[in-house]
Amino acid sequence: MTSKVKLYPGTYKNYSEEIYKAIREETFGEDIGQNSWLTADEYREMFSLLGLTSGSAVLEIAPGSGGPAAFMVKVCGCDLTGLEYDSNGVDNSRKLAEASGLTAQTKFQQGDASEPLPFEDGSFDTVITIDAINHLKNRDKVLKEIYRVLKPGGKLLYTDPIVVTGILTNEEIAVRSSIGYFLFTPLNENERLLELAGFTAIQSRDVTENMSSVSQKWFNARGKRKDTLLKIEDSETFEGLQRFFNMVHTLSHEKRLSRIMYLADK
Ligand SMILES: C[S@@+](CC[C@H](N)C(=O)[O-])C[C@H]1O[C@@H](n2cnc3c(N)ncnc32)[C@H](O)[C@@H]1O
Repeated sequence: MTSKVKLYPGTYKNYSEEIYKAIREETFGEDIGQNSWLTADEYREMFSLLGLTSGSAVLEIAPGSGGPAAFMVKVCGCDLTGLEYDSNGVDNSRKLAEASGLTAQTKFQQGDASEPLPFEDGSFDTVITIDAINHLKNRDKVLKEIYRVLKPGGKLLYTDPIVVTGILTNEEIAVRSSIGYFLFTPLNENERLLELAGFTAIQSRDVTENMSSVSQKWFNARGKRKDTLLKIEDSETFEGLQRFFNMVHTLSHEKRLSRIMYLADK
């Protein structure tokens, strides 16, 4: 039986600890504070796909630590609103924005993005959400809400790292989803729901490779530091996370679970 493993609260609380910085650097190469399968180069490419400029009003759903958000605002000069469920993540996002002199361009609030979004119709040019849509209940309603808060002509970009593209056992599903609430989505279901929500010009791209390589590096970087990590994390959390990262790697390497990026227009 697989129990719940705490990934997000500890990661955001311990964000500034040297050991977690070292793990991020070794895992991602360029550490932008990500807590996902995102690399900095991949994010830069997303900025150009979205055509982000200094005038853009961006909503980031589930910004996590706020590191990628600060990176986006520094690179593009846009204004960013973040809606994140984890309160440690929200605190960290505010701290990072303040330390980088970005408080005027950023706003972070705590909330559940599965619920109706706390924003007026047509508030944003862009909505982005990285490796988080799988944690939100009712994908059809979430996409309709995103459509509502986008301006006409606005763009949505998200990655879904839980697209089922092969056979999975019950134990594999349990370990892969041991860190929280998960939706496992069949291939082509995102496209169907995007269309149903009203989106047009829907494009998708397989970006599984990043998930496969990042998860393996993350597993190795943590494994090397086991003794020190065990002074911060209890052994159940440490072992649970190692099992999780190893499973992410196996399923993505074997292409049984894929990470797909979706880009769509309102
Ligand atoms: C894999 S992390 C990605 C974080 C960030 N996008 C990044 O790339 O580093 C998924 C995030 O989704 C957040 N999350 C989970 N459920 C949520 C919900 N219902 N509403 C808002 N955020 C949620 C988690 O707290 C976590 O920060």
